[in-house]
Formats: sequence, structure tokens, C-alpha cells
Amino acid sequence: MSGSETTLRVAIIGAGNIAERVHASFYHASPDTELVGVCDNRPEQAQTFANKYGCAAFDDVDTMLSTLRPDVVSVCSPNRFHYQHVLAALAAGCHVMCEKPPAMTPQEADDMRQAARKAGRLLAYDFHHRFALDVQLLREQVAAGTLGEVYVTNARALRRCGVPGWGVFTNKALQGGGPLIDIGIHMLDAALFVLGFPAVKCVTAHSFQKLGTTKNSGQFGAWDPASYTVEDALFATLEFHNGGILRLETSFALNIPEQSIMNVQFCGDKAGGTLFPAHIYHDEAGELVTLMQRDAADDLRHFRSMTAFVDAVKGSPVALADAEQGYQIQRLVQAIYDAAEQGVTVAL
Ligand SMILES: NC(=O)c1ccc[n+]([C@@H]2O[C@H](COP(=O)([O-])OP(=O)(O)OC[C@H]3O[C@@H](n4cnc5c(N)ncnc54)[C@H](O)[C@@H]3O)[C@@H](O)[C@H]2O)c1
Repeated sequence: MSGSETTLRVAIIGAGNIAERVHASFYHASPDTELVGVCDNRPEQAQTFANKYGCAAFDDVDTMLSTLRPDVVSVCSPNRFHYQHVLAALAAGCHVMCEKPPAMTPQEADDMRQAARKAGRLLAYDFHHRFALDVQLLREQVAAGTLGEVYVTNARALRRCGVPGWGVFTNKALQGGGPLIDIGIHMLDAALFVLGFPAVKCVTAHSFQKLGTTKNSGQFGAWDPASYTVEDALFATLEFHNGGILRLETSFALNIPEQSIMNVQFCGDKAGGTLFPAHIYHDEAGELVTLMQRDAADDLRHFRSMTAFVDAVKGSPVALADAEQGYQIQRLVQAIYDAAEQGVTVAL
């Protein structure tokens, strides 16, 4: 990319839900970008999407990349294809914004970070929650010592009955897993970001498949229980080298009273903090005292994540959820699945 006055030409791979809701809407509205093409293995889906956004439609990634030669590519295909699509876009000289999770395995995420380094291109992942102002506030205050030593963190990405009724989210071969790799990974990323990515010593976990294979509909539509091959609930504990622990609870379906919970609590020896909305508090003689608070959770996190990526491509020194951190998160996801599936403590 040459200068900040240049409009970035963008292409999208995977013309589904997130491509439309976040990526195309952002690129279409931004004065810094022009959406020039979209690729989907379902030609009709690509064409409908292209008609809506006034861009070219393709059903083959390599043809789109060689025909359009975009500056930037958003990878919004199912998890199984992130690896090949990111590598193809990097090989074509593009900067890449890839949807989460980075890939299916740590080996793939490692190859992807090395490919980005070798190509001299940015590879960012859309861990958008960390771009919420709430997360930024908690990160600043944890780094400044307001909470003291944070020794217990509770991250929760729970749905009572929220199995996705679209896409391939219940198919382990195409998705890599269930709620952990889909929504738990978001709160894991946000928690680690706030904590400053402390080194993990070991992981234990338990996963369950109780409701996804017996129920067939919920708040996000219907699914086929006979082809439900991912976990529906998972509970993990990460032990850090600094002595602290992070407990992660995540579910697509679990008999809890709330319809959904996406939040993280940090417990320090000086104060505690809740992420959404940001709230920092401590106890004075048995009374809860608020030290800092945002009135409502920031709902512009996707917009901020995309803006940060485009600004970084244009040369601004902004922090991204980068290929290195993507690899670290993917290693943890794998360790959690290994711990749950093998019933062992996994050391890192
Ligand atoms: N950041 C977030 O909050 C968030 C939210 C939703 C989804 N996602 C991620 O986005 C990705 C897609 O999810 P979605 O909800 O949009 O799913 P989706 O099923 O709605 O969309 C995926 C699209 O990719 C297309 N596709 C499948 N295989 C392809 C291939 N080989 N080449 C090109 N296109 C292909 C499908 O036809 C479909 O149109 C997943 O990785 C998911 O984890 C992220």
C-alpha cells in the first residue's frame, strides 16, 4: 500500500452471515476502502451478494485473486477453509483480515503467521470484543495495578439454547469444535488481552454433548441432532505461571436461567472488575464500592476492530489481534480440547 490517500481495493471470501453483517457493510461505508469482489463456493450466493454491493462475483478463490489483484482480503469462510484462504491471499500479496478462530489447529495457525511474516503483509483476526472501550479500560486499569494481583478470572460465553441454525457450526470436521472454538474463544481472547497474555502453565477441561444431540431447535433456529458432532458445553481451567487461574465456561446449550452470557470477571487482591459494561469495584466494610464504571457496554466493537485493521494497513501504528496472538489462542484451544477429550492435564 502506498499512501493514506489511496483507496484500498478489498475482496471477501465466503459470502455468508458475518461477511454481510460486518465486513461488507464496513468496507462499503468506509471512505478508505472499495469492495471489488466476493467469492463463495455457491455461485448463486456470491452473485446475490455481489449484486447487493456492486462488486464482481466469483466461485473460485484463485481466479478472484488473480483477476482483481486486491490490496486486502477478508476471509469469512467456515473455519476449515481459513488456512487455505489466508495462505492464498497472502501469496497474492494481500493484507488479510481473517474471521476467528484463526484455523483448525496450532500447526495451521503457525504456518499462517510465518506466511504473513514472509510475505511482509498484515494478518489480523477478528477478535472484535477486545476492541470494546470496556476492554480497553479494564486493560489499562489492570496494567496500572488498580486491581492489584489478578489471581482469579472467570470467562463465560454461555447460551441456554443457542446452537447456530445456519452454517456448519455443528460439524466438527468443518468447524473444529463447538462453543469453545466459536464463542468461548472470544471471551478467552478478551480475558487474556486484559491480563496482558500471561504465560499458561497447564490446562484441565471437561466437555459434554448432552443437548445438541437430543434437542433440535432454539433461539438461533433449527439443527439436525443426528449430525451434531461438536461439544455443547465445555468447562476449562487454565493455570498461569504467575500462580493465577482462568476459568472458562462455554455452551451452545445448557440448562441455565439466562438466555446468554458473554462476560469476564477479574478478581484481584485490591479490586475486582467486570468486563461488559466495564465496572471496577472493591469492598469497604462489607459494602460494594464502585471505583470506575461505564454506563453501557460499547456496541461498536466490530466497527473498531475493522477500523483498526484498515488503519494498520494504511500505516498507522495501531494494535491488532495479530498472527502471533492468533497462534497463541489456537494453541490454548487445542490444549483445552486435548485436556477434555483425553481427561488429562495438558502442560504447555
Ligand atoms: N467475529 C464474530 O463475531 C463472528 C460471528 C459469526 C461468524 N464468525 C466466523 O465467520 C466465519 C463464517 O461464519 P458465518 O456465520 O458467516 O457462516 P456462514 O455459513 O453464514 O457463511 C460462510 C460462507 O462461506 C461459504 N463457503 C463455504 N466454503 C467455502 C469455500 N471453500 N470457498 C468460499 N466460500 C465458502 C458458504 O457458502 C457461506 O456462504 C466462521 O469462521 C465464524 O467463526 C465470526
